[in-house]
Amino acid sequence: MSCVKVGIIGGSGLDDPNILENRSEKSVDTPYGKPSDALITGTIKGTNCILLARHGRKHNIGPSHVNYQANIHALKAEGCTHIVVTTACGSLQEHIQPGDIVLIDTFIDRTHKRVQTFYDGSANAPKGICHIPMNEPFCPRTRKLVETSLKELGYGHHANGVMLTIEGPRFSTKAESKLWRIQGADVVNMSTVPEVILAKEAGLCYASMALVTDYDCWRDDTEAVSVELALETFKKNAQKAINVLLDVIPRIAAEDWTQTLKDNEETSRKSVM
Ligand code: ADE
Repeated sequence: MSCVKVGIIGGSGLDDPNILENRSEKSVDTPYGKPSDALITGTIKGTNCILLARHGRKHNIGPSHVNYQANIHALKAEGCTHIVVTTACGSLQEHIQPGDIVLIDTFIDRTHKRVQTFYDGSANAPKGICHIPMNEPFCPRTRKLVETSLKELGYGHHANGVMLTIEGPRFSTKAESKLWRIQGADVVNMSTVPEVILAKEAGLCYASMALVTDYDCWRDDTEAVSVELALETFKKNAQKAINVLLDVIPRIAAEDWTQTLKDNEETSRKSVM
C-alpha cells in the first residue's frame, strides 16, 4: 500500500545511507528540539523511507543524550507509519549467541534520566497526561514480517526476547549482569527505552532488531564486553541487519495497515487524561 513510509533508526554503525535510493538530506526541527541528525529520505525498492542515525552520523551523542522525543516526533511529522530499528546488545542467555538477531517483544526499564513521554508539560507539548499501555510495546504485525525475512535469509535469530535497557554509558558490572538474568532479561542495551514508548504514544508500528555483539560480563569463561569486542562483532554482522531491512520493507509496503494504524491512534488517544 502506498501510504506506508518506513523510518529506520540505525544504531551504532548501522546508519549507512547507501541502503536508500534517490537519497536526499533534510534538516528538521521539532517542538522538542532537533533530532540526532539530518533525516535521510529516499526509497527502498520503491517504498518511501527515512533513515536517522540514533547517535548522530559522527556517533557523538551518548545514549542518555539522544533526543528520543525529537527523533520520533520528526519521523511521525514526516509521515512515517512504521519504524524499524537496529540496536547492538549484549546477550544474557547462553543460547543467544553473538551474531544472532533478537526480535525483542518487551523490555525492562533500568534507565533513570530520560523523558518517556511527549506529554511532558513543556511549553509546546500536547496537554494532558498519557498513560500509554505497555503490555505490547512492539508492533506484533511488523515483528512477524521481520521474522519472515530472518527465516527466508536463514539468519540465526530469536522470535522473542526481553530487552533490559540500562542508562549507560558504562557497561554493567558482573553483579548487575547476573541480576538482569535473574530478573528475566534476555538481552541488554542502552537505547530501547524510551524510543519504543514514544513510538507507541505516536501511534507508530515499531519493531526492533537487536543485534547481539557480546555476552555482557556474566560469564566467567567468556571475554567481558568492551567497545572493541562489541564493534568487532558488530562489523562482522551488520550486513545481516541491512539485508533484513532490504527484504522486510517491501513486505511491509505490500500490506494494508489502515486498521492497525487506526487502532494505534485510538490507543494513544484513549490513553490521555
Ligand atoms: N550494547 C552492546 N553490548 C552491550 C552490553 N553488553 N550492554 C549494554 N549495551 C550494549
